[in-house]
Amino acid sequence: MIRVQGGARLSGIVKPSGAKNTTLPILAGVLLKEGEWVLNNFPLVQDTLFMITLLEELGCKVKVKKAKHQAVIKVPTKLNISIENNIFSSLRGSIFLLGTLLAREGEAIMPYPGGCNIGQRPIDLHIKGLEALGVKFDLASGLIHAKVDGKVAGRVYLDYPSVGATENLMLFASLIPGEVTIDNAAQEPQVVDLGNFLKASGVNIYGVGTHSIKIKGPRRFNPIMFSIPSDPLEAGTFLIASTMTGGDITVKDVEVKFLNPLLYKLGEVGADVRMQNATTVRVIGKSRPQAANIKTLPFPGFPTDLQPQMTSLLVIAEGVSLVVETVFESRLQHFRELNKMGAQVTVEGRQAIIRGVEKLQGAEVVATDIRAGSSLILAGLVAEGETKILDDFHVHRGYENLVEKFSNLGAKITSQIVNKEMLANEQEKV
Ligand code: EPZ
Repeated sequence: MIRVQGGARLSGIVKPSGAKNTTLPILAGVLLKEGEWVLNNFPLVQDTLFMITLLEELGCKVKVKKAKHQAVIKVPTKLNISIENNIFSSLRGSIFLLGTLLAREGEAIMPYPGGCNIGQRPIDLHIKGLEALGVKFDLASGLIHAKVDGKVAGRVYLDYPSVGATENLMLFASLIPGEVTIDNAAQEPQVVDLGNFLKASGVNIYGVGTHSIKIKGPRRFNPIMFSIPSDPLEAGTFLIASTMTGGDITVKDVEVKFLNPLLYKLGEVGADVRMQNATTVRVIGKSRPQAANIKTLPFPGFPTDLQPQMTSLLVIAEGVSLVVETVFESRLQHFRELNKMGAQVTVEGRQAIIRGVEKLQGAEVVATDIRAGSSLILAGLVAEGETKILDDFHVHRGYENLVEKFSNLGAKITSQIVNKEMLANEQEKV
């Protein structure tokens, strides 16, 4: 459980941890070549540590030096091709092992991936793209059984600029001789980071960050030391907190360009946004934020992964805001919890109408996924009294030491392990 006392104005300087959504495809990327890889600024969150467990199941030897935030991964010359570990189905990132194993061993057998329950999370675009490059699938047994039937280079068109499908195809294409083009590719920050990692390892890759990515098979493809870039989503969460609490927070060591969609919106609601250089941005919260409309879209549209956090600001803004979540079909569940705190939100399908209120009241609320959890922390920061956030394990899947970082910025926030009877006692006290 996370407990937050509302009312503090947050201020200070914070450096986000390495990005979870960048680390997961890179952990698959290291499998592309035997040898010793070193990843620095490694985020110690459940999903990345689960991914390491899967790498060990495939035959890797991994040493995580927690104090240094460093992972040293020894990749063998031969990888196991089938994964039974049920950890696989607890995160979305495990699907990146499909493209990698097919590239390295020509075959892969694995369950379907998991991930936040924000929608169906199908993998049809991953399958369709890999089939276009010569992969044959047998999905009859409820598992994914895939085999490379003569790697063919060529062009792949994604019906939707799926982040995961783009990354899976980049990983698979890195070992194909000949040129692969991915059209309607995703441009999210984690795709750009993966492209930089593959380029540094020796892959000829062009156009990452645009809708058309070209990849030519490996020149010299070698294990490297690579530093995971900081998480723009964590940075964005703090900058929203600064705006909501009338605070003054500076985020450093993060690619500010990846925050552009959010920074424009924070300016629109009335925050004082000061980009100090390419990797440092300061946001000062002025009076009560103004309402604004949000429509989530593939990057460089407003990121769906910052939508829940931004709505915690809009529920206390002056005026009426419209939120449209176009990326996932079920990513508005946090509004049920925000309404328990006195927010006035009407949800209809993928849309929500928010009538801003002056004040929220602290309440007992439940996190349903990583970003919904962080949105409830933000709401607790400005609510009257105490907010208790249950199922906060979701938050720790994707943010490292978030409670400690908020506390260092002046928030009155603690987290404790509670079990059912402790919870019952808590509720009796109320
Ligand atoms: C990645 O998920 C991120 N996860 C998500 O972050 C993020 O919300 C999402 O990209 C969009 O930016 C990781 O990077 C590990 P998609 P992914 O494929 O790859 C549909 C977080 O909070 N789709 O771009 O699953 C899909 O259903 C997480 O850190 C298909 O229809 O996202 C969704 O509606 C949550 N078929 C839309 O595309 C497919 O084969 C976007 O999905 C694949 C996706």
